[in-house]
Amino acid sequence: MSIAADTAAHAGFAVAPPLAMLAELTHRCPLRCPYCSNPLELERASVELSTADWMRIFSEAAALGVLQVHFSGGEPMARRDLVELVAHAAKVGLYTNLITSGVLLDRARMTELAAAGLDHVQLSFQDADAASADRIAGFDKAHAKKLAAAAIVREAGLPLTMNAVMHKQNLARLPEIVELAVALGASRLEVAHAQYYGWALPNRSALLPTYAMLERATAIVDAARDRLKGVLAIDYVVPDYYARRPKACMGGWGRQFINVSPAGKVLPCHAAETLPMDFPSALKSSLAEIWYRSDAFARFRGTDWMPDPCRSCDRREVDWGGCRCQAFAFTGDAARTDPACALAPDRPLLDAARDDADSPVTDFLYRQIGAAP
Ligand code: SF4
Ligand code: FES
Repeated sequence: MSIAADTAAHAGFAVAPPLAMLAELTHRCPLRCPYCSNPLELERASVELSTADWMRIFSEAAALGVLQVHFSGGEPMARRDLVELVAHAAKVGLYTNLITSGVLLDRARMTELAAAGLDHVQLSFQDADAASADRIAGFDKAHAKKLAAAAIVREAGLPLTMNAVMHKQNLARLPEIVELAVALGASRLEVAHAQYYGWALPNRSALLPTYAMLERATAIVDAARDRLKGVLAIDYVVPDYYARRPKACMGGWGRQFINVSPAGKVLPCHAAETLPMDFPSALKSSLAEIWYRSDAFARFRGTDWMPDPCRSCDRREVDWGGCRCQAFAFTGDAARTDPACALAPDRPLLDAARDDADSPVTDFLYRQIGAAP
C-alpha cells in the first residue's frame, strides 16, 4: 500500500489527508508588522528551499490529497521563482492562493502569475488611514502600493480577498476598512483580530483591544454583513482573550492543515516552531510519511493526548482542546488545556493578561531579523 493511501490509525481514528498547505516560501519581507505570525527567530535566505525542492513538495502535496496551496511568507513575492512555483502547483492540480502584502506587485508580475494559473489573491491591509497603515507596517508608502496592487489584481480578473488584522490601534477605523474593501472590488474581507503568538505576543500591550472595542467591532461586522449581502462576504476572527471556549485551532492538530517553513520544516500550524518539539524536514521525508507517521503530527492529534477537563468534555471533538501554541505561550506546557477555555485550570493566566488592553503603550516591537526579545 502506498504511503498516500495509508490510513494508519492514530488515537483510534483513521487519519484523513490534509485539505490545505501553507507554503511559507520565505521569511524575507519588506514590511515589519508587529503582529506577524512568523517565529521570532526568522529563517534567513541562505537556508531557503530551492525551486526544485518546492516543486517536489507541491507534487507530494497533490498526491497526498491536498486541494489548496497558500503561497505565503514573509512576502512570497520576494522569491524570484514565484511564477515557476505557481505554474507547477497549478499543473499538479492544486488551487493556488497568493497571500501578499502587495508592495512588490506590479502589472508585469501579475500578468505572469495569472498566466501561470494563479487562482486567487489575498492582500493584507494594515489600516484604512495611510499614515497609520504605514506606521503599523513599518514601511513608508506601503498603503499607496497596496491600493495600486488591489487595482492590478482586479484588472487581471482575479478574485481578491482583503485581509485586515485588527487591534486597538486600528479598530476605530473598521467601518472605513469595510468601505475600502468594497471600493477595491474585493469579494471577501477577513476581519481578523490579532492572535497572540509570534510577534504579536511581545506586542500585546500595544495591540490587545478592550472588551468595549471588541463589542463595537462585532456590531459593525454584523451590520456590514447584512448590508453587503451578495457584495462582500466578511469573515470575522475574534480574539481568544474574550472567548469562553477556544477556537478549533487549525481545525485540530494534524487534521486539515500542513505548513512548510522556508527551510523545509513541516509543521501542523504556522506558530508550531514556538514549541519545544522537533519537527520533521521535507528534505528528509515525504509529506505523506510526515503526515501519517511522524511523532510531531501524532503528538496532539485526536483526543488521546488530552488532560482533563478536555478528556471528559463534550466539546473535545469540536475544538480539539483549542490551541497548543497558546497553551504553551501561557503555561510553558503545550499539553495543557488552552487557557482560552473558561474551564481550563490555567484560565486565570489569560484573565490577567487582559489587563494589557488598558495599557497606554503604543510603541511597537517591529518584526525584524535579530530583533527578538
Ligand atoms: Fe474545549 Fe477542553 Fe474547554 Fe472542553 S474543556 S471546551 S474540549 S478546551
Ligand atoms: Fe499552533 Fe494554534 S497556532 S496550534
